[in-house]
Amino acid sequence: MNRLASCRTRGRKMIDEYAERRTRFTAQLNGGIAIIPAARQAVRNADTEYPFRQNSDFFYLTGWPEPDAVLLLVPREDTYVSILFVRPRHRESEIWTGRRLGPEGALDAFGADEAYNIEEFATRLPALLVGCRNAFYDLGHDDAMDRIILSAVREARNKVRRGGWAPHQFTAPGSILHELRLFKSAHELATMRRAAAITAAGFARGLEHSKPGIYEYQLQGLIEAEYRDRGAQALAYSSIVAAGANATILHYTNNSELLRDGELVLVDSGCELDNYASDVTRTWPVNGHFSTEQRALYEIVALAQREAIAHVRAGTSFRAYHQAAVRVITNGLVELGILQGGVDELIEREAYRPFYMHSTGHWLGLDVHDAGAYTLGKEYRLLEPGMVLTVEPGIYIQPDADCDPRFRGIGIRIEDDILVTSDAPENLTAAIPRDPDELEARIGKASSA
Ligand code: GLY
Ligand code: MN
Ligand code: MN
Repeated sequence: MNRLASCRTRGRKMIDEYAERRTRFTAQLNGGIAIIPAARQAVRNADTEYPFRQNSDFFYLTGWPEPDAVLLLVPREDTYVSILFVRPRHRESEIWTGRRLGPEGALDAFGADEAYNIEEFATRLPALLVGCRNAFYDLGHDDAMDRIILSAVREARNKVRRGGWAPHQFTAPGSILHELRLFKSAHELATMRRAAAITAAGFARGLEHSKPGIYEYQLQGLIEAEYRDRGAQALAYSSIVAAGANATILHYTNNSELLRDGELVLVDSGCELDNYASDVTRTWPVNGHFSTEQRALYEIVALAQREAIAHVRAGTSFRAYHQAAVRVITNGLVELGILQGGVDELIEREAYRPFYMHSTGHWLGLDVHDAGAYTLGKEYRLLEPGMVLTVEPGIYIQPDADCDPRFRGIGIRIEDDILVTSDAPENLTAAIPRDPDELEARIGKASSA
């Protein structure tokens, strides 16, 4: 089946979903024009390119899978029209680098009102800008595109010297679009649940193959192969597979060292399915047995996560679940003698920060750190049904920390993807074991079989 045919099989339902998103977006544009470019194909080295990944805003509004494209949403009378500029069909290019859908595909399979060759974008744009006071365009991300837009605005202003409007204001489209992206549709949630299930299979494979003497990258390879095997097209971000004290480096991605007997391994990894991310962390003992100190710290993080998840409820402040995690972690560190003093006072002066220095989570969706404001005005916003966020408390005892040496070099994080509902929070990644006994029971089972 060629790509156009395969897009057609997505059917009316998907075309309608994207059209509905565009309608909700344009309803808030007040007669402004929106200019949303696709991602560019990025060069990796010499004539080799990175795998293409569509720009999330552009994808959200179009579903269009190719580079070198621009979406225009143009006001006309009482409505908006969607115009896609895309790469034209080209027999020879398609033989070398892959099939293209062309403007005809943009009309048929993607429901654009009008579609043109991307090479016509710069010449058609000035006339389309006439009549619009405001342009919703993200200046400052792409110099070449900025130049085209600014030159078209200049030309449009020249055209309206004797009356009429051309844009005299630029607004970031994200100010509207990212609020829409924050609330996931049924279709988006279905995709995120599938991404979560694939990620669960990857972690299951990693757990079952864990043992001392393998390298971090080997564990990474097993997990990521499972994602690919189950149809995920990409990773949502570079996997962190951090054994021993590497787990105290928050963004460790070298993944080059050995898993050693007696150490923990922290795995922070998630697949990307149809451009939707999952983002999971588990930490487990390489040899299948938590030491006393490892388990003591693990239990604190696990409790912090349970408490935090319980605060992921509609009507609760975004900040509340972080505060819940901080309280459990601070209290636990006091009980273990790693911090000394009263819990309230330690929280007040952020004494936990050498051991817990990141926030407890972020929005999740098309981007792993997904779009959407965390505050409205000066206040953290209230959670609402349809938002998806991560809950990822951790404790990181640096190798030179000022504490009982038995705790040094231990890093633990537990991370799940949580949907805010009108009732109890739904853990999309609940299938991945986090109970310490269950983890112990699963570790290394494949290698001993
Ligand atoms: N893996 C990135 C994060 O957890 O935020
Ligand atoms: Mn993560
Ligand atoms: Mn995360």
